[in-house]
Amino acid sequence: MNFETIIFEIRDTFAIITLNRPDKLNALNKQMFNDLNSAIEYIELNDDICGLILTGSGEKAFAAGADIAELHLSDSKSGRIFSEYGSKIMMRLEQLRKPVIGAINGFALGGGCELAMSCHIRYASENAKFGLPEVSLGIIPGYGGTQRMTQLIGRAKTMELILSTSFINAIEAKRLNLINEVYPISELLNKSIELLNKILSQGNLAVFAAIDSILSSSDLSLSDGLAYESRKFGEVCGTKDFKEGTSAFLEKRKPEFKGN
Ligand code: COA
Repeated sequence: MNFETIIFEIRDTFAIITLNRPDKLNALNKQMFNDLNSAIEYIELNDDICGLILTGSGEKAFAAGADIAELHLSDSKSGRIFSEYGSKIMMRLEQLRKPVIGAINGFALGGGCELAMSCHIRYASENAKFGLPEVSLGIIPGYGGTQRMTQLIGRAKTMELILSTSFINAIEAKRLNLINEVYPISELLNKSIELLNKILSQGNLAVFAAIDSILSSSDLSLSDGLAYESRKFGEVCGTKDFKEGTSAFLEKRKPEFKGN
């Protein structure tokens, strides 16, 4: 599939999306959101694609934020629509019930940081920098930054980062649990692929159900979340993959999951 602002590749059982406006540090413009939306929809609908890696082109930026040149927002209505559109697409990415790994290869600022936080797992390069500097432009994070960052690293540190507009490096981001792991940039994509292949070698139906259940914890009370988990547990117990996984363990062999 060809897009104007992203590169969309399919490798065996997974897809790689590369944000591709390197001369603008992969800033997220309207066209890129449209392209991302179409690519995510394609992945949702295509059963042969079981996971996704999202990265940026070049060695400088994952994405340096929403395209500031497109911020012609003259009133609260246009601002709200702008925020809701990007937010909806990031939610769609997060809600993709297939593993999404962000390979964060440099600046992840503003909308770029929010997009990274919408991935299920984040690996970052040593030169990555994270921040939500929107208040320096007279706005606030509008694609989930105030919500997801608070969930990931807690309220006090989120307050400090958003209000001070400071950037943090990859080591600090890992210390705060904003990202999972840090690698030299030359290894970042391969490490991300290695992890995704390991995930996809498990029973995919169980992987998808686990993602679903983990994500539900953000929206549900503990008792509702436990009920949801039990429902998902029940669903996977009806699969051939479950029988295969347990039989293979008892027969001391590698399971051959078929995704049914
Ligand atoms: N929107 C639009 N264009 C952007 C951009 C953004 N968010 N971030 C970078 N660019 C563009 C620059 O305008 C420049 O374009 P030009 O070469 O046509 O002038 C190009 O990308 C390179 O950026 P530059 O600022 O020259 O690189 P730098 O190494 O000096 O600084 C950053 C890098 C990331 C620190 C700096 O680009 C920056 O602060 N970007 C904005 C971050 C931000 O506020 N994001 C939140 C947006 S809501």
